[in-house]
Amino acid sequence: MRLSDCHNIDDFRRLAEARLPWPVFDYIDGGADDEITKARNTAAFADADLVPNVLADVAEIDASVTILGRKSALPLILSPTALQRVFHWQGERAVARAAEKFGLWFGISSLATVSIEEIGASVSTPKLFQLYVHKDKGLNANMIQRCRTAKFDAIALTVDTIVSGKRERCARSGFTSPPKFGIASALGYAMKPRWALDYVFREKIALPNLDTHVAAGSDQAVSIANYFNTMLDPALNWQTAEDIRQDWGGTFCLKGIMSVADARRAVAIGADAIMLSNHGGRQLDGARAPFDQLEEIVDAVGGQIEIICDGGVRRGSHVLKALAAGANCASGGRLYLYALAAAGQAGVERALGLLADEITRGMKLMGAATVSDLTRDQLRRR
Ligand code: FNR
Ligand code: LAC
Repeated sequence: MRLSDCHNIDDFRRLAEARLPWPVFDYIDGGADDEITKARNTAAFADADLVPNVLADVAEIDASVTILGRKSALPLILSPTALQRVFHWQGERAVARAAEKFGLWFGISSLATVSIEEIGASVSTPKLFQLYVHKDKGLNANMIQRCRTAKFDAIALTVDTIVSGKRERCARSGFTSPPKFGIASALGYAMKPRWALDYVFREKIALPNLDTHVAAGSDQAVSIANYFNTMLDPALNWQTAEDIRQDWGGTFCLKGIMSVADARRAVAIGADAIMLSNHGGRQLDGARAPFDQLEEIVDAVGGQIEIICDGGVRRGSHVLKALAAGANCASGGRLYLYALAAAGQAGVERALGLLADEITRGMKLMGAATVSDLTRDQLRRR
């Protein structure tokens, strides 16, 4: 299978599986427990139907939105994801360049393998930093200050990882950051020579936004579950979130909000946006899908705070359904990660091109010249 054989995100998933050592693929592809929530995140979109309007003069359409205070060429944000240079040696640099090419927001994780400074200096597209609150308060303050100095456009505080989800695939493979080659997985790594040679001979994996304060994850191999359960602050609460918003002083988003009560509290503390998200089904298995929960959230806080529907998106039609249900924007991780892992920047650019094409074609077939033309009148839940 080659890059030119990829015509949708699922094709990229297959190519990524062919090219990655299985422990690395399973880290990307996996969810928590029985992966029921991960599956439902995408399946939820199939339980809703779009009702098109026609004869609507859609020769010219505008698929752009303004989200988190910045213009985005599409109603789609690339969600922040960890360890990208483990998946492909180009890592976050490739995703950033692809996001720039398509005029999209780009976000790096606290567990990114490139630095805040490098992204700040090299990326012209709107950029957000995803903050994990560590027990080490000096580290938290240091990351926020670095984002301020590097002129990041927003901070997304992740709030759904107070303890790690049960990542059974990673438990089986022994996946760690940086990867260590255990008995169970050594053969898996050895059987993917292209990945293995890149891993051995290219730039060493590091977590440059954390290793000023902690060795875990870059010099010390640690599982993500162990990282979450030992390094992150289990006392994280609404006061912490409000303090961080005030300390940052810029555009602020809470990532991982699911309940109406919490959405209302996000409004109360002055957040600019929420990412309605269950972390891609990687945390609480059994949690509701963001798309299933979306209208409840829109009815409660729509218009008071921006709502980004995060997770399960694999098609342009999924984005259109989220917008029709009332989201301001959609977002996703695996929709570009499979492509990154499969083929680096060229892969991500192809994936984003396919999604852009599906979104614009879908808008035309819906009779929607702009995103605001997509309304709940054009969506029916089964
Ligand atoms: C993630 N996600 C994530 N979220 C976050 O706040 N910080 C992080 O470091 C990561 N890392 C990460 C790694 C990998 C491999 C995946 C798949 C996901 C969650 C991510 O931001 C987003 O919420 C989900 O990916 C959305 O689900 P989909 O689009 O992948 O189905
Ligand atoms: C994950 C963490 C890094 O989902 O957010 O793997």
